[in-house]
Formats: sequence, structure tokens, C-alpha cells
Amino acid sequence: MNWNDVRKEFPVCEKYVYLNPAGGSPLSTSAAKEGIRFYNEMNQFGDTLYEEWMDQAACVRDKLAKFIGATPEEIAFTSNTSQGMNFVSHMLKNKGNVLTMKNEFPSSTLPWLNIGFNVVMIEPNGVYYPINKIEASINSDTRILVSSYIQYSTGFRQDLEALGNLCKKYNLIFVVNATQAMGIFPIDVEKSNIDFLVFSGLKWATAGYGAGGLFIRKKWLSKLKLPFVGWQSVVNPGLMDNQQTSLRPEASALEGGCPSFPTVFALGGAIDLFNKIGKKNVMNRVLELSGYLSGELIKYDFDVISPIDEAHRSGIVMIKTQNAPEIVRCLNEKKIIVSSRGAGIRVSVSIFNNHNDIDIFIHEAKSVQHLF
Ligand SMILES: Cc1ncc(COP(=O)(O)O)c(C=O)c1O
Repeated sequence: MNWNDVRKEFPVCEKYVYLNPAGGSPLSTSAAKEGIRFYNEMNQFGDTLYEEWMDQAACVRDKLAKFIGATPEEIAFTSNTSQGMNFVSHMLKNKGNVLTMKNEFPSSTLPWLNIGFNVVMIEPNGVYYPINKIEASINSDTRILVSSYIQYSTGFRQDLEALGNLCKKYNLIFVVNATQAMGIFPIDVEKSNIDFLVFSGLKWATAGYGAGGLFIRKKWLSKLKLPFVGWQSVVNPGLMDNQQTSLRPEASALEGGCPSFPTVFALGGAIDLFNKIGKKNVMNRVLELSGYLSGELIKYDFDVISPIDEAHRSGIVMIKTQNAPEIVRCLNEKKIIVSSRGAGIRVSVSIFNNHNDIDIFIHEAKSVQHLF
């Protein structure tokens, strides 16, 4: 794999040492081109291409479905994780207690709390959520398990297959927030027994703001009432019958109206690049870079709190410090982009990074090590 060519897809790398895909990733050129193409076409041709754009959006839906082992009927486009999670919480209203992790990002928890779910939070062991600890937290009232694939504030990567098996054993509805993994760490909704999955395309997916997705397992589409609808939610939208309420048993019915073409197309372009590189290559590259980064940090006595074992490592490496905002400011001034989160500084590495980025970061971090 020629990683220099991949890096060229991300011109931001010429301006910054960009170590913040966990906060917001640059768009790949493949993704950006697709969004720009739409705006140019609408600028030049008005709405005359509507049918073509609808067909192209259907192709992106197929692509996204394949990418996570789902069928197109099980995929809805959303604008972000919060929207997707609200769709799920409203679909599952009154289904019973939610069990989740203490350090989840608010988009994973607030949509449940807001409509009155009893949400029980599991304390981590350090930064880990071991499967046996989750199992011990299940009781007869637990019906729904909500977990991030990768925790945003620690980088802990959950074993989705093991958690999916646990949900099967206890007949729990398994809801996954994949925002900190999408694009980089392969997802197979079948293998992992996932019922619902949400993600935002802004981070690792390199698809930008407003590009998100939702997976709903087919069995739920026939069992549960869709909480939100619009003119395109019905079996035959072309009739524009304002009294017809026979809804399509497809996740896309939740979209209600017309798709957000530019963000959907950008997501398609982003997935094309991942497919071109290959899922395994992508994951291995990020694991290799995060392994190198954490190894160097530990060598120079920085306090790394993220998992370093390969089974639970991700692209996120957290360095513990009380002084994160000041250190982040110093590094940003040197065009090194990292963020302040949770217990310290979050450094994240993706397919556009290389060893030189990490060496520059380590060098500059050492120069302000007294602030850590
Ligand atoms: C795990 C996780 N989910 C979701 C989000 C963002 O939420 P939304 O897509 O609703 O803006 C973040 C942002 O940091 C995150 O880390």
C-alpha cells in the first residue's frame, strides 16, 4: 500500500500535523469532490437532475449497507449521531431499562434520558469495560444495551462481537454508537448481533459535517412503529396522497423527505476511498501508528491512559495531564492539531498520518513536557 498516495487525498497534511480525527477529520478529496459535484450540478442544471441524484443516493445506500454487512433496506441517512440515536430511542420507547457505559459521549445517553428511560451506567475498570463486568450489571429490568464501539475520551475499543453475544444470551437489544470507529475499524452488524447502529461521518469516516448513518435490523422495522415520518416515508410517495399512512418497512422511511444529496454523496466518496485501500489495510495502518505513538510517549515518560494492547487499542491515544488546554494551545500554535478531552490531551491518528507526524508531535510535546 502506498500511504503517501493516501496522504495526498488529504491536503490538510501540508498545513498541519493533523492529529485530531477523533474531534473532526479533514474530508478526503474523494469525499469533497462528490459534495462539490452536487453543488456544481445544481448550480448549472437546477433540479432537472433530481431523478439521477435519487438513483445515486440509492447507490450510496447500497455501498454503506455493504460496508457494514447490512442490506440497503436497513440503512437510513442521518445528519449526525444525536439524530440517529433519537430515532432509535423513540422507536424503543417504553421497552425497558437501558444499560450503558459511564463515559459515553452525551449523544449516546441524552436521547434516552430525555424521554424518560431509566439509564443505568456501568463504571469502568480503569478505562476498560470488561464483558464480565457488563454481564454482572445486567438484571431482569435490563432490555437495551447501548455502547460505543470506541470510547471518545479514552480510546478504549470494545469487543463488539463479544458484546453482541452477551446481548444474544440475555435477549437484550444491542445499540452501538460507531462514530469513533466508522471507516477505520471494520463493522459487521451480523457477526456482532447489532440491532441498531448510529454514526456521524465527521470523524474517522472523513465525510464531513452532516453526513451520518443509521442501521436498523430488519426485524425491528416490521415490529416497531416509526416515530417520525414525511411524504417519502410511504409506499408510494409519487401519489402525494396527504392521507396515506401505509409506511415503507425500510429504515429510509425515517428520513421523511428528500435526501441531503451533498452530504450523502460525500459519504459515498469517503467509502470509495476506504474500499480502494481495503478494510484490513486501513485498520492495520491505524493500529500500527497508534502503537508507535503510544510506545514513543511511554518511552519518554508521558502518562498514557489509553489501552495499549492491540485488542482494545484504537486510533485514540490519551495523555493524562491537568494542564490540557494550555498544552493544546502551545501545540496548536506550532500547527500541531490535538484536542483537550476527558483526563487530558487526546491525540489521534488516521490513514492520512505518518511516522513523521508522530515524531514532530513527540519532539514538540517533549519541549513543553514541564507543563504536563
Ligand atoms: C462517540 C461520539 N459520538 C458522537 C459524537 C458527536 O455527536 P453528533 O454526531 O451527534 O454531533 C462524538 C463527538 O465527539 C463522539 O465522540
